[in-house]
Amino acid sequence: MFEHVVNKNISLRLTHVTDSEEVYKVIDSSREHLKKWLSWVDLVKSPRDCKYSAYKAMHQYASNNGFQCNVIYKDKIVGKIGLHGIEWSDKSTSIGYWLAEDYQGRGIMTSCCKSLLNMVFDNIKLNIVYIYVAEDNTKSRAIPERLNFKQHGLKKNAQILSGNYVNHIQYVMTRKDWNELNKV
Ligand SMILES: CC(C)(COP(=O)(O)OP(=O)(O)OC[C@H]1O[C@@H](n2cnc3c(N)ncnc32)[C@H](O)[C@@H]1OP(=O)(O)O)[C@@H](O)C(=O)NCCC(=O)NCCS
Repeated sequence: MFEHVVNKNISLRLTHVTDSEEVYKVIDSSREHLKKWLSWVDLVKSPRDCKYSAYKAMHQYASNNGFQCNVIYKDKIVGKIGLHGIEWSDKSTSIGYWLAEDYQGRGIMTSCCKSLLNMVFDNIKLNIVYIYVAEDNTKSRAIPERLNFKQHGLKKNAQILSGNYVNHIQYVMTRKDWNELNKV
């Protein structure tokens, strides 16, 4: 189980089944905020559901197919970030993330994305990272835009949220662009 330090207040801890109770409490206390943009929230009905997701995440990591991390801010779990699997044929992946409502507005997720992208490009040596965001999700769109991702296209009716189809914007970052634009 790894824990990657982002800065003095933030770290990324590989998802483990032992964190499931705490993760459940965080999701449960931010349901309305999260379900606006994430279709899985209503499926999380008890800590057992978080345990099941954690086992899946542990299997994903063990299968060399990417990983999921809990976002730790000042020793508390406040969100998640991870890779939606790895396409080894073209060395690409996409990333997803969420934060508890009360921890927005401090730059936590932008810093986590930056660290994750450094890992993905430097350690795992992937070439392309995508982020798919609902067209109207301005807070989420601001993250790839802050990190100089290029807007690459629009996928119509990509997700159903609260019974309605929404379009996704596809953002893309290549290893070459990352090294030129964001490496410090
Ligand atoms: C998407 C989500 C993670 C964005 O959270 P966020 O707090 O806006 O993102 P960050 O943690 O990067 O913080 C950025 C905010 O902190 C501010 N900030 C403060 N210090 C900062 C710093 N050092 N660096 C960057 N931003 C900083 C920014 O100005 C911005 O605030 P603003 O929106 O008022 O301009 C969050 O809204 C969320 O979980 N939403 C629900 C789930 C979701 O949509 N997931 C994504 C699906 S694609």
